[in-house]
Amino acid sequence: MASEIATHLKLNLGNIHFEPFPDHESSLQILDNVRGSDVFVLQTIAGNPDHFLMELLIMIDALKRASAKSITAVIPYFGYARQDRKDKPRTPITAKLIANLLTVAGLSRVVTMDLHASQIEGFFDIPVDHLTARLVLCHAIERLNLKNFVVLAPDLGAIKKARSFAEHLHGDFALIDKRRIDTQTVEVYSIIGDVSGKDVVIVDDMCSTGSTLVSAAEACKEKGANKIYAAFTHGILVGGAVERLEKSSIEKIFMTNTVPFEKKVSKIESVSVGKVFADAIHSIHNSEF
Ligand code: R5P
Repeated sequence: MASEIATHLKLNLGNIHFEPFPDHESSLQILDNVRGSDVFVLQTIAGNPDHFLMELLIMIDALKRASAKSITAVIPYFGYARQDRKDKPRTPITAKLIANLLTVAGLSRVVTMDLHASQIEGFFDIPVDHLTARLVLCHAIERLNLKNFVVLAPDLGAIKKARSFAEHLHGDFALIDKRRIDTQTVEVYSIIGDVSGKDVVIVDDMCSTGSTLVSAAEACKEKGANKIYAAFTHGILVGGAVERLEKSSIEKIFMTNTVPFEKKVSKIESVSVGKVFADAIHSIHNSEF
């Protein structure tokens, strides 16, 4: 992603030397002179979120101490965002904690994409550019040339996003009332809207274990849906998600490259949001709209 962004911007990537200590503490050195520079540091908080978050904080600290003029964190997937409120007693609000940590480390600005909840932007007291993958994913869906179709929100949290896809694609809209039983299992209570005889495009911000998408697909099939497709921004894909999606009735899945995904899976198509980030960085740096 960083290379792709640098190519779009006709820039070279900066160099960092990573050399962890034998006990796995992260340690690094910025190899380029950044004194007086506007620096954009890219790190996605997924895969091994604790490690990559710590690494990002350490990079920001190193840049600050090297007298960078401004430090912008480009965080394609902003991890820890699902805990954005206290939904049970004695639970943390990790999204706010991460915002505090990044700011204290010395960050000037954040560029991120499709936050789990857009109000997380307000957890920061520095500027946040909240980008969306909607256009890129909609262009991919348009290639399917669907005629009689419905865009489906697989849970209440996805309503706003799915509705905006439905408007853009000129499709019908439906939603699912779901309950999460545990981290791997979800139960579908009901589908609100008509999916019978229609193709269905399930839209979500992320796919982690795949349980939400697969349960939604099964529920649609039971209600007589035709072909099922899925589109989401962040492919976390853990805990057997790839196998679950492969075995499911979902015909084709579009996801972006905000989280690195190396495997080749025939029904999963990765669409790049590198240009969206490059354009945002260009606008920020040149103070353009
Ligand atoms: C939930 O609020 C999110 O938007 C996703 O629906 C959820 O995180 C997906 O998780 P999984 O793939 O494990 O069902």
